[in-house]
Amino acid sequence: MRELAIPATLPLQPVSTPWLIEAGCELAILRLDQLDLQVSGNKLFKLQPYIERMQQQGLRGLISLGGAHSNHLHAMAAAAQRMGITAVGLVRGPAVDSQTMADVQRWGMQLHWLSREAYRARREAHFVEDWQRRHPDLQWVPEGGDGALGQQGAQAIWQVLHASLPALGWVSCDAVVCPVGTGTTWQGVARLASCPVWGMSAVPKHYLPPTLRADPCLILACRRGFAQSDTALAAFAAEFFAQTGVVLEPVYTAKALLALRYQLADGKFARGSRLVMLHTGGLQGIRATADWPVSAEVAA
Ligand SMILES: Cc1ncc(COP(=O)(O)O)c(C=O)c1O
Repeated sequence: MRELAIPATLPLQPVSTPWLIEAGCELAILRLDQLDLQVSGNKLFKLQPYIERMQQQGLRGLISLGGAHSNHLHAMAAAAQRMGITAVGLVRGPAVDSQTMADVQRWGMQLHWLSREAYRARREAHFVEDWQRRHPDLQWVPEGGDGALGQQGAQAIWQVLHASLPALGWVSCDAVVCPVGTGTTWQGVARLASCPVWGMSAVPKHYLPPTLRADPCLILACRRGFAQSDTALAAFAAEFFAQTGVVLEPVYTAKALLALRYQLADGKFARGSRLVMLHTGGLQGIRATADWPVSAEVAA
């Protein structure tokens, strides 16, 4: 079985925009999106402990769930193909011909389309038990790579960040900004970090578990709702790309950065602060948003 490795460091790209200059803050983007073309962003970090558990238990693959545009299923299918292991995806129906699902099937993932009603039961114990009974030789991975193992894996993002600072000439940073879906990445990074880690939520507050809703470092970034784009967001991403060359996608990273811009304008961060934003990847998902201005820049 081939292994997928997490590098010790990744590019930490300093960016400059008029709104950063106005706020008197420095920002660098940790390019987790450059880790791999397909197993990109935060995904391998969250999957790694599940892969290790699979190996320890002598299982032959992974089973997980998500939507038809899921970055998580996309990365898991690519990882499984590279490693030569089985991947099964439970997908929220009704079945659609998304490019994401075309990719995962091309890479050999077996799909089970679930009705919306069946998918809604995913947090109930019997749901996991039923699927584990049907696939006893596969390691269960919760939605989005969530769970204790996912959080444990996400801690390594802080280690990569810390090891990447010297190349930028920084010994430390004052705050980290992390896009949030399940909150797994945010909570994992925050557990090791020596500075505040702000969770920019791409989902409305009520989607999050109560403990995360109450976290003082939570900032709502979901705008009109999860996976809803809008013209101001698209214009922001286009402008940011023109200024920095960094491609943001509409669901997580563009919303996180735009929310950061609003926080800077409100004076949330002291002048002179050094900030790091985690680019959590997900660029494949751009294909699901019509008229997203920087889609042409995404590598196939
Ligand atoms: C591109 C991208 N960024 C951020 C997130 C949010 O990560 P988490 O679910 O760990 O909060 C996701 C979802 O996994 C994602 O696909």
